[in-house]
Amino acid sequence: MGKRLSRAAIEEYRRDGYYFPVSVLSAGEAREYRERLELIERDLGGPLRGVYRIKPHLLLTWLAELVRHPAILDAVEDVIGPDILCWNTSFFTKEARSPGFVSWHQDATYWGLSEPDVVTAWVAFTESTPANGNMRVIPGSHRTQVPHVDTFHPDNLLSRGQEISVEVDESQAADIVLQPGEMSLHHVLMVHGSGANPSADRRIGFAIRYIPTRLRQTGGPRDSATLVRGADTYGHFEPEPRPETDLDPAMLALHAEISDRQARILYRGTEKTSF
Ligand code: NI
Repeated sequence: MGKRLSRAAIEEYRRDGYYFPVSVLSAGEAREYRERLELIERDLGGPLRGVYRIKPHLLLTWLAELVRHPAILDAVEDVIGPDILCWNTSFFTKEARSPGFVSWHQDATYWGLSEPDVVTAWVAFTESTPANGNMRVIPGSHRTQVPHVDTFHPDNLLSRGQEISVEVDESQAADIVLQPGEMSLHHVLMVHGSGANPSADRRIGFAIRYIPTRLRQTGGPRDSATLVRGADTYGHFEPEPRPETDLDPAMLALHAEISDRQARILYRGTEKTSF
């Protein structure tokens, strides 16, 4: 038994590369998170775009709280150990009746991190089901890195429209189905993707990327991360402060620098230089 996950659950994560569902928020709390997001979207005049897609937990206090939520961190600790950095966050929002999709890919391909010991906690603010474009995974695919190509397809929600360049056997795919307030955990090498959202409501997921403090950034400029549990005795990442108010001007300035560095890592080798 781990802090949060059973021994069987931890074994399942190691064998298959993912585990779900883990209950994190009540349905009412998930609703409140959605409302907070939609309030900010109204202020900004639409869905989060550009730099707001990268590390919004540095700009919004309620996301700074969510990345530190004990119910999430206890499960994350069970798979990557007790000294935990939050390396990145982003929303994966699919508007109602929208064509946006995510091609089959492995997250590790462009992130530049020294080891594939990275776990994503994907927290559902709305339900995520086959009706609205839930994430699909290929069980056991996290043991091998496979080649990718960039497509920059306009409806692809990924930074480079990257997709796996060898055939993916979709008959093996499993659906990650979540109710509001539940999360899934997945390994950075697991092959995953998702389809469009033809339903009448938005599908909103918040992806949090956690790493153990010993990892390094090998893909370019010095990187930064937020220590959310334990101690960082390595200092491989510049520590990030916690926002005290939403969209604080000083945090916006720091965040602009950080997202510029992230863009240089994620887009290296291409002509694109910003989000
Ligand atoms: Ni991904």
